[in-house]
Amino acid sequence: MGFGVLGVFLGLLLEVSTHGPHAVPRTSWRHQDLDLMEFSEPAIFNYSTLLLSEDRDALYVGAREAIFELSKKNVTVKHNKVQWTVAENHMLMCTQKGKSRERDCLNYIRVLQVVDDKQLYVCGTHAFQPQCDHLNLADFSLGGRPEDGRGKCSFDPSQSFTTVMVDGELYSGTAYNFLGSEPIISRYSPSQSLLRTEYSTSWLNEPSFVFADVISEGSNRVDGEDDKIYYFFTEVSVEYEFFGKLLIPRVARVCKGDLGGQRTLQKKWTSFLKAKLVCSMPELNFVFNVVHDVFILKGANWRDTVIYGVFTSQWGNVGLSAVCAYNMTAVEEVFSKGKYMQKATVEQSHTKWVRYNGITPSPRPGACINNQMRRQNISSSLHLPDKTLQFVKDHPLLEDPVLPIGNRPRLITKDVNYTQIVVERVRALDGNIYDVIFTGTDKGVVHKSVVYEGEVHIVEEIQLLKNSESIKNLLLSSETRSLYAGSDSGVVQSPTAFCGRYMSCEDCVLARDPYCAWDLHTACVNIFDAPSQRLRKLIQSLNGDADKCPSVASGRSLKDYQRVTVKLGSSAELPCLVRSNLAQVLWKSNGSVLTEASRFHLVGENGLLIYSVAPEDQGHYECWSVEWAPAAGKNFSRLLAGYVLTLDLPPRAPHQAGHVTTLGSQEKSSTHAAEGNGKTDRVLLTSALAPPSFTATVQFTSPPQTDSSLTPPPSSTIKFLSKQRLPLSSNAPRPDSQDPAAEYLQHSNSIALLFLFLLFFLLFLTALAYNCYMQYLPAPCLRLRAALLGSHKSADQTEYRACEEGLMMEASAPEKNNMKEQPTQNGSQTTQNLRALRDTGYETEPECGNGQIPSHTFGDDSLSQEKPFDVECESQPIQFADAD
Ligand SMILES: *[C@@H]1O[C@H](CO)[C@@H](O)[C@H](O)[C@H]1NC(C)=O
Ligand SMILES: *[C@@H]1O[C@H](CO)[C@@H](O)[C@H](O)[C@H]1NC(C)=O
Ligand SMILES: *[C@@H]1O[C@H](CO)[C@@H](O)[C@H](O)[C@H]1NC(C)=O
Ligand SMILES: *[C@@H]1O[C@H](CO)[C@@H](O)[C@H](O)[C@H]1NC(C)=O
Ligand SMILES: *[C@@H]1O[C@H](CO)[C@@H](O)[C@H](O)[C@H]1NC(C)=O
Ligand SMILES: *[C@@H]1O[C@H](CO)[C@@H](O)[C@H](O)[C@H]1NC(C)=O
Ligand SMILES: *[C@@H]1O[C@H](CO)[C@@H](O)[C@H](O)[C@H]1NC(C)=O
Repeated sequence: MGFGVLGVFLGLLLEVSTHGPHAVPRTSWRHQDLDLMEFSEPAIFNYSTLLLSEDRDALYVGAREAIFELSKKNVTVKHNKVQWTVAENHMLMCTQKGKSRERDCLNYIRVLQVVDDKQLYVCGTHAFQPQCDHLNLADFSLGGRPEDGRGKCSFDPSQSFTTVMVDGELYSGTAYNFLGSEPIISRYSPSQSLLRTEYSTSWLNEPSFVFADVISEGSNRVDGEDDKIYYFFTEVSVEYEFFGKLLIPRVARVCKGDLGGQRTLQKKWTSFLKAKLVCSMPELNFVFNVVHDVFILKGANWRDTVIYGVFTSQWGNVGLSAVCAYNMTAVEEVFSKGKYMQKATVEQSHTKWVRYNGITPSPRPGACINNQMRRQNISSSLHLPDKTLQFVKDHPLLEDPVLPIGNRPRLITKDVNYTQIVVERVRALDGNIYDVIFTGTDKGVVHKSVVYEGEVHIVEEIQLLKNSESIKNLLLSSETRSLYAGSDSGVVQSPTAFCGRYMSCEDCVLARDPYCAWDLHTACVNIFDAPSQRLRKLIQSLNGDADKCPSVASGRSLKDYQRVTVKLGSSAELPCLVRSNLAQVLWKSNGSVLTEASRFHLVGENGLLIYSVAPEDQGHYECWSVEWAPAAGKNFSRLLAGYVLTLDLPPRAPHQAGHVTTLGSQEKSSTHAAEGNGKTDRVLLTSALAPPSFTATVQFTSPPQTDSSLTPPPSSTIKFLSKQRLPLSSNAPRPDSQDPAAEYLQHSNSIALLFLFLLFFLLFLTALAYNCYMQYLPAPCLRLRAALLGSHKSADQTEYRACEEGLMMEASAPEKNNMKEQPTQNGSQTTQNLRALRDTGYETEPECGNGQIPSHTFGDDSLSQEKPFDVECESQPIQFADAD
């Protein structure tokens, strides 16, 4: 059964990876290859709050105990700085409450919002006593009259939270207390009292806020409805039964004109409603249930607005990230027409959320005031009838989910955790508008993708941060055509496109970058830099049809081939730089495709290494790239490099010593060879960093210790497959990634590979033996083990079984009602108490790390049918019932 689960899991991953859209970035740019603008100051960290000024040349940065004004044209230029530290008495209070002086009891600036063109509103965590102040832009000084920041800014610098300023009023989603246990969505305005959410798990249940913004619908709605503020967060689900805490991504909204109720919901939102955001692959039953960031791409009309979100699964080990897009009209539809959910009490203590099928009061609970209500003399929320208010207080959750456009993610990527997203609409030369998505990862990399006819193509990955750390904030300015990333260690500014780095027309077109086009007279240019009279002459094709390029480039003459002369028996390396991760590399010799013989190896990115050059190896060598452009439905072959290899024949054949015959010593010598090549590759790498050209250096390495006369000549055709993508993200964390010896060791010797293979085989055997010993493997092995050791682990085994059964039940929970025998546990009394408490308080709930909760059973059989998951489980399930 364990294998069943594992099988489902692996099958799922395989399916996900094969069915998902093409998610390999075409080009990878390393940090050291790019000339990015960076800012940081010594001893200042956590540059996590960014604000772009619309009318000034300013990027405001909130860091730890400091606020900066940088030039948005060049963030290395600092205009201003102000320090905001914590007074000693506040520090003392903070440390007395058990917080760390170096980490927690500092002032992390977390709110930067524009009040008017003269001042900003700024808030900091201020040693767990949040404070806000006004920042005067003229002299860049703080007002010095700090206000209470409770409900506007988080206490805990590591707790997620969000704010947005709308017409001078600050909307926040944060925690209202020191413990961080009282979540609140609030509006602070200088003239009115704080408007906030009800303190109840049905309103907010351990939310983790990611984003909030206003949609200004008011101005173009005929029904006279208000502007709305949308909040995005992940919270613990109340409506699904699960082992532990099942997270659910949500969108919630409030109306700007809300004033609270007269009697019911006084000083509370009367318009708070929330719905589930769905980002899943329905055909695979796979759900992305944690939202990390949201970007609202606003159109001229609010109906053209598209909401983009980045998601991962609660189980980080699945290693998948997704981008889902939502149509604003669909969101609005759910809020204005969706069915409500209602808490139903089953038996005494157990509550369940079900659809509300009764009559909803009028006006519709949670709706903004519109003309129809005004005609009924309801001109503000203060006039709403108690029946409506009481209903919305008890039913803030809508049943209908918000589904993504196309009912599936726009983009799914493996082995990355997206943390941030920004999107820009770009009008390409074909006159169409494309959404360009920039997603930042927890490893300091940004992926740039373009949506073409509903499919996503990842144009490039950019290693924005020098170190492998999380991108905490990502902003985009169309004006400076820059991306700004904030991280714990600094701020980085990057152009939105790297057109100039594509050296040929084919490369420029195959990149499918809407910002870039090929100018016949110069190079690959940014279309927004090109003079408008030239635009019609530029070559751009977003489906990657490189046939639009003039064909001169592919017909290189033999004169262009680089001459390479080597001594008999020595090795030759022919570099070939392929920038595209989507291309396959073919080496041709004398016009026919080279085959994999023991003496030919791919080295470096895609260079060819020929061991012990023999007379018959002389001739022409060509490096070809074959790139499949799916949108154009064509393969594009290009000649990237050409060489003429000749032998520098010495008077007599050089004497070769140390000829190897036995396997054992061959293994040793292979290590030697690998080391030798490592040194060679160091030189090679430097050449690979130069722009691709025909002047690449050629290395002469000492021959590996094999006799050239014994090496068979190359046989016929096998092609070399290109190495898949530059491993930016895996490179980055390695501080010594400058050492190419380690980087390219893998390519150097097939004997080394054999050795590695043997090593892994041994490891595999060990793992097998270990798993057998630990009883992870099935019957035959267990019998063997039992025979050897006897079976004293059977107690664990039952528990494990129970867990598996729970998993299986969970996967099919909605349909299956057949009751399973479950191992009954004690302590159901305590659990009942806990459940009773769950509905009213947060703090009382035990903290269950890793989703493990104390197991519980329900005495009544009829109840158990709905709750078959009362098992203690060590492992985490990979799939859950939230798959409608
Ligand atoms: C940005 O400013 C720095 C410092 O003034 C300067 O050295 C650098 O050249 C500037 N970069 C650009 C792209 O203007
Ligand atoms: C602040 O930056 C430091 C240093 O990089 C990091 O260790 C810490 O986790 C950051 N704290 C927060 C709250 O982001
Ligand atoms: C959103 O949905 C509406 C109605 O179905 C449609 O008219 C509109 O074009 C859609 N917008 C986008 C951006 O898909
Ligand atoms: C609305 O108020 C006006 C004046 O107070 C009153 O004349 C009218 O009957 C009211 N209309 C409704 C529908 O209650
Ligand atoms: C993604 O994040 C999870 C949880 O933080 C972590 O376990 C996992 O290793 C990360 N994956 C990648 C590819 O960085
Ligand atoms: C290429 O052609 C030349 C001359 O025809 C021949 O001597 C040489 O052996 C060929 N080389 C390869 C690698 O086939
Ligand atoms: C494109 O090239 C790849 C690799 O060489 C090959 O597998 C594929 O069949 C080719 N497709 C077409 C349509 O020529």
